[in-house]
Amino acid sequence: MSKLNVLLIGSGGREHAIATFLARSPLLGTLTISPGNPGTVSLGENVQSPGNKPELWMPLIKQRSVDLIVIGPEQPLVDGWADYFREQGLAVFGPSKEAAKLEGSKSFSKEFMSRHGIPTAAYQVFGTHNSGSEGEAIDWIRQNGHFPIVLKADGLAAGKGVFICQTLDEAADTLHQYQQNQTLSKAARQIVIEEFMEGEELSVFVLSDGSSWQILQHAQDHKKIGEGDTGLNTGGMGAYAPVPLVNQELLEIIENEIIRPTLDGMRAEGHPYSGVLYIGLMLTNQGPKVVEYNCRFGDPECQVILPTLENDLLELMWAVSQENLHQYTIQTSGKIYTCVVLASKGYPGPYETGFEITGLDLASNDEDTYIFHAGTKEQSGRVITNGGRVLNVISAGNTLQESISNTYKIVDQIHFENEYHRSDIGRKGIRSIKP
Ligand code: AMP
Ligand code: GLY
Repeated sequence: MSKLNVLLIGSGGREHAIATFLARSPLLGTLTISPGNPGTVSLGENVQSPGNKPELWMPLIKQRSVDLIVIGPEQPLVDGWADYFREQGLAVFGPSKEAAKLEGSKSFSKEFMSRHGIPTAAYQVFGTHNSGSEGEAIDWIRQNGHFPIVLKADGLAAGKGVFICQTLDEAADTLHQYQQNQTLSKAARQIVIEEFMEGEELSVFVLSDGSSWQILQHAQDHKKIGEGDTGLNTGGMGAYAPVPLVNQELLEIIENEIIRPTLDGMRAEGHPYSGVLYIGLMLTNQGPKVVEYNCRFGDPECQVILPTLENDLLELMWAVSQENLHQYTIQTSGKIYTCVVLASKGYPGPYETGFEITGLDLASNDEDTYIFHAGTKEQSGRVITNGGRVLNVISAGNTLQESISNTYKIVDQIHFENEYHRSDIGRKGIRSIKP
């Protein structure tokens, strides 16, 4: 097979991880990352984003003779960029606009699950575009709701659209915010009101080429800002993979009750799913139920999943884009990887940036340790903080405990002003195997 020139779209820790493993492939020709970040500079060529419409990317794609486009984040997928590029005759890793609706519209995904008998929380959909419908939602909660109750904006809201409300007053406040808050109101033209599910959360990642699929890996995220899973939701403060709690029996239930009906259902509805499907699950007393679907890799889950892979990532992504996945078998190493996110103090609220980061060189660069950039910038030869989630530190172990302790050894060597990280990443995984 001739070498492949790849364009990777995105700029976060997830994309730094993807670029790292693409760059290891003997199949890789050139790697263009757009916009990329200071961490991806050494892996290919960072090019400024040509803009927020796929047409604007065509000159870059032609100039660099791109063979495969890998789309990292959800927004361009939900906006249909994969369809546009495919219409231009290009190979793409990422689902079509219709398939990305699994993430792009929570009401679509709930109705889809209901049509296909996929276990998920009981729900109702309401409009919020006029105050009358806000009243309908609150009346429904008053009459039928059990607390806590979960309210979700229908559309993409960068992780800020979900509220777990303990009282009727909190629910009324949330409904009001959906209408008043400028960034939320677009995503919340419709809302989903959902039963609260109790249990351990688990993320399962599936590669699908539209006809065949395989589980890539499972992981556990730490969405809350505070120790012990307290405080506000974030994009993710840390993760580990694989999850020791998961055994073959549980995986078979997840495959039979959730993954297969999801992918068969999408195909039957005329929208075969191609790319990576991230299924967020709650392991409830009644078995695993879907919390949400995402149409891309998780961030920071991607940063711990890819190091466990023994396959060539580019070969797999190409196979997915060519509907050829059945020719490969996904193989993982058995090692466990933990990722700790170093954030700017204040995140997910307001925070300051511009602080110099030290220790990036000191941190050992053995083959099982990675430091991925998430929100950094280069300025006069120094790397400075430039976002809420700044760096991802990843290290391996033969057990989860060993992987956690190796990761925190590296974390301790990296410094910047106002740095914040959780010191309990992975601990819940140890607790769940030894209750
Ligand atoms: P989502 O964006 O749908 O993944 O929701 C964000 C987070 O809110 C999830 O990772 C869960 O921690 C929590 N969550 C969402 N839906 C529910 C639910 N029905 N019951 C309990 N927790 C939920
Ligand atoms: N870490 C959660 C997400 O990527 O949605």
